[in-house]
Amino acid sequence: MSTPFRVAPSCNIARASDASTLSIAVQTLANGGLVAIPTETVYGLSAAINNEAAIAKVFKVKGRPQDHPLIVHIANIDQLHHVAVEIHPDALKLAQACWPGPLTLLLQRSQNVSMSITGGRDTVAVRIPDNVFTRQLIINLGSPIAAPSANRFGKVSPTTAQHVCDDLQNDVDFIVDDGASSVGVESTIVDFSVSPPQLLRPGGIPIEDIEQILGYTIRDTDGISRASGMLQNHYQPSCNVLLVHTDSEAQQLKVSLASHYERVRILNRCDNLPLYATLLYSDLRQADADQIEALIAVLPENRGLGAAISDRLTKAAGSRPPLPPS
Ligand code: TXA
Ligand code: MG
Repeated sequence: MSTPFRVAPSCNIARASDASTLSIAVQTLANGGLVAIPTETVYGLSAAINNEAAIAKVFKVKGRPQDHPLIVHIANIDQLHHVAVEIHPDALKLAQACWPGPLTLLLQRSQNVSMSITGGRDTVAVRIPDNVFTRQLIINLGSPIAAPSANRFGKVSPTTAQHVCDDLQNDVDFIVDDGASSVGVESTIVDFSVSPPQLLRPGGIPIEDIEQILGYTIRDTDGISRASGMLQNHYQPSCNVLLVHTDSEAQQLKVSLASHYERVRILNRCDNLPLYATLLYSDLRQADADQIEALIAVLPENRGLGAAISDRLTKAAGSRPPLPPS
């Protein structure tokens, strides 16, 4: 099959290090526009939390159901008290130990966070991203920003500015390019609105590290999810993703798939989990760009950063059948 000619989409992208980028990003948000922001986990599609029309646009552009809430991003711990109330001391302890970083806390929302951001809930998800540009943007804007991952609902998250442009094209007003996200998978979400606290989504900070800081174990996610990333089919590329546990299983499966598929690829970075996470979404996107039909992914052990990688790969595999109809 020949590769179809693809016209590169045009987008309004500027480097974070360019002198005018910060003021353009601030102005865009202040005027009710949407700005794609770099973070250490994935790129976000942001709007000012005090602009209802802009928040509505985020849902529209993502194609996201209204009851799937957005994460609020703040620049410092002082702003935490602006967006959340009745903050549990252990949540504050975690915030102080892990922020800026890939941890999101679920807390009681304050009146400054509208129900449209929280999907009608009394809780707000909040974090400080580990990106200097994005924190300065929030400070100069004078308001926290709400940002889900900057991809269409259900699709693979973006870890570069180019991914955002490929996905959203002109539906985003301005894209800030600060290179590839270093962590590569979304933040770990811990729910402190329930007692004891509960893991809602494994992510960039291993749950074991969080438990060590707290001195007790966190209840695992119960599968009945209050988080959209917990849906069965999420983070999905177009190609079939097939899961195995070892490299030899992957090799065997590749041989047995030869009569069904022309283009099969194995994805296995289990010997370097930080790199597996950093490149995971690029690898899934590249498989589609290369028109791979079946991607055989080797699952890492379900602990440490491996828990988040396994979670995303399992969602990417979804419930699709392993073989094409014969
Ligand atoms: O690393 C990240 O968390 C990235 C970057 C951009 O910060 N953001 C991200 O956002 O992954 P998003 O929207 O793709 O995922 C946010 C998750 C969703 O699963 C959403 O349902 C959950 O957080 N969430 C947000 N607010 C919530 C709330 N009040 N209650 C329950 N879940 C909530
Ligand atoms: Mg997302």
